[in-house]
Amino acid sequence: MNKDFLTTEHFSTAELKGLIDHAVALKSDRLATKPLSGKSIALVFFNPSLRTRASMQIGIYELGGNAVILEPGGTSWTLEHREGVVMDGNKTEHLNEFVRVLERYVSAIGVRTFAALEDWETERTDPILKAFARYASIPIINLESAMHHPCQSMADMMTIREHLGTQKKKVLLTWAWHPKPLPMAVPNSFALAAAQFGHDLRIAHPKGYELDDALLGQIQSQAAANGGSVEFTNDPDEAFNGIEVVYAKSFGSKNFYGDPEGEIRERALYRDKWIVDDAKMSKTADARFMHCLPVRRNVIVTDSVIDSPNSIVVDEAENRLHIQKAIMTELIK
Ligand code: CP
Repeated sequence: MNKDFLTTEHFSTAELKGLIDHAVALKSDRLATKPLSGKSIALVFFNPSLRTRASMQIGIYELGGNAVILEPGGTSWTLEHREGVVMDGNKTEHLNEFVRVLERYVSAIGVRTFAALEDWETERTDPILKAFARYASIPIINLESAMHHPCQSMADMMTIREHLGTQKKKVLLTWAWHPKPLPMAVPNSFALAAAQFGHDLRIAHPKGYELDDALLGQIQSQAAANGGSVEFTNDPDEAFNGIEVVYAKSFGSKNFYGDPEGEIRERALYRDKWIVDDAKMSKTADARFMHCLPVRRNVIVTDSVIDSPNSIVVDEAENRLHIQKAIMTELIK
């Protein structure tokens, strides 16, 4: 196993499937093993969370360990991650010391650090997450960065397998309208993991909302290597034809990083067309509906779809707990 869990790209499909096998076993007997007995894990949240924070804290407890939650700029000092800067602004502590001190106390560090949606060329490199990994000799777990949310995508793959089996499925990743631009980590990681698991992936979004070019290259090569396929459409209705899993997520356009007002004007064009509703779901092959949550009802998805028997969003959220326990166990082992 890689030292860190930053993106599923760093792991083979066999390793990822092994993590899901492990998570399934942990789900069937939640308190069976205590591999973190006597150990602590730090969880660093630069941004809000419900699922990630609760599932990591509870997962660490169930594995016999202790979670230390830190919120830079809130309950811990503001942090500078850039090297060589003169720290005469509003940042109190450098990540260099933050990480090297923490690792004297804990066995791993989980980090949530969203994109600021200000500078695409910088943010697409995940500078804060990578700085954690560079300074740390202990495992770093990505709890959602500017570009990736691998714990989410592994829970997504586990949930698809749980509901529909291990054979490849026709999976749709569809953009959805939202009143403001959101980060791309969830769609990036979902598309990448779907390709690594060999699903037939369709990606639907309005023109101008393409994923990162380099990431699309990884997705294409993973699909080819794992017996899957990738196709693209800008038509939100045609996108649903014959699909077995609908994964909805709104995300911002990389063309508008630094210009949120321009982005909001641009996306207003798509408000009524890009919502998951019964008419679109009726075109599918009885598809399951998935979303990472939180979700805005009747904006991203109608009540009737998210409340339908085909909606598996809560199972998906539950599986965050089990897959993260498997990831922590494997990394710390
Ligand atoms: N899906 C997800 O990561 O949820 P939270 O933002 O609530 O952690």
